[in-house]
Amino acid sequence: MDLLARAREMEAAGRSVLHLEVGEPDFPTPQPIIDAGILALRQLKTHYTPALGLAELRQSIADHYRHKFGIEISPKRVIVTPGASGALQLALSVLVDSGDNVLLTDPGYPCNRNMVKLLGADCTVVPVSAETHFQMYAAHIDQYWNENSVAAMVASPSNPTGTVIGQQELRGLIEAVSAAGGHLIVDEIYQGLVYSESDTTALSLSDDVFVINSFSKYFGMTGWRLGWMVVPEAYVDAIDRVAQNLFLAASTLAQYAALAAFEQETIEILQRRVAKFRERRDYLLPVLREMAFEIPVEPSGAFYIYADCSAITQDSFAWTRSLLEDEAVALTPGIDFGEHRASTHVRFAYTRPVDELERACCRIARYIK
Ligand SMILES: Cc1ncc(COP(=O)(O)O)c(C=O)c1O
Repeated sequence: MDLLARAREMEAAGRSVLHLEVGEPDFPTPQPIIDAGILALRQLKTHYTPALGLAELRQSIADHYRHKFGIEISPKRVIVTPGASGALQLALSVLVDSGDNVLLTDPGYPCNRNMVKLLGADCTVVPVSAETHFQMYAAHIDQYWNENSVAAMVASPSNPTGTVIGQQELRGLIEAVSAAGGHLIVDEIYQGLVYSESDTTALSLSDDVFVINSFSKYFGMTGWRLGWMVVPEAYVDAIDRVAQNLFLAASTLAQYAALAAFEQETIEILQRRVAKFRERRDYLLPVLREMAFEIPVEPSGAFYIYADCSAITQDSFAWTRSLLEDEAVALTPGIDFGEHRASTHVRFAYTRPVDELERACCRIARYIK
């Protein structure tokens, strides 16, 4: 955030900053979704929806799992939320009490730790590295689970590493968490943005996981603030009550707009974007490796590359700051995602077109020289 604020200041002073730090698609929301939103407003859909979401949207999300993954999910288990952020808060609220403990990966999505702390619980940070594709495996549960642990959280594809947890490893993780008597939260917010392996869901393996998702990333709807989660049926009532108290409901307008998200016309637009993201990743990956960044595991999803910059600097925070000042390229330093080897890592977000990535890489190469 500091870097982003500085980048904005530099832009206001007339410098052209290249943004490789932004964690949202550069593409706008697809037109069919926008049209559905405009129609909903014209039809005066301006009142609250039920706390768990519009019945039609919950059904559309359940249908989406059938079409995409061939699995049957009861729409009763689908809960529409204000972004994945709302889903994460709801899931943690029903699973975690004060004094409990939650296992999280380091590096990982930074807000999770703070949400856990807000509930008066604490986190055990599990350092993950290339050997496990920067993911939590069953062996980590054996090593890090303690008497207060109640849940573990993973994201696949992951932010910041873009790596995916294999189905076999995920099955092992689900079994290990269940054997420990806890719950697994799997954040699938980058589902759909997967380039070099098949797209999967933890729901194909178990009905007993809390699966988080969102319209933000693949569907290009960050500003609409809409997400969902699929939960074990026994938790639906409790989540309904917490949602009524915390949010009342997700945005009505966004929910009507999202009904168009699963239409063929929209999916075709989105799949063309996936091809663009893949092109960007395929451009960036070899160029960064040539520049002495080490990327030991192929980032096969999301729009991030988490690179080891230890051959260049031992202080990625200071380095990204001076890269911004000297060459006007913004990256995210590892410290944003945890502490484990954070000072020797940076995150590149390929949420800009290839020509901008090329210009950014020229500047970075010059800066390293
Ligand atoms: C892993 C992960 N989970 C959740 C979120 C929150 O997304 P939103 O609330 O926009 O759906 C993000 C946003 O960057 C993310 O990277």
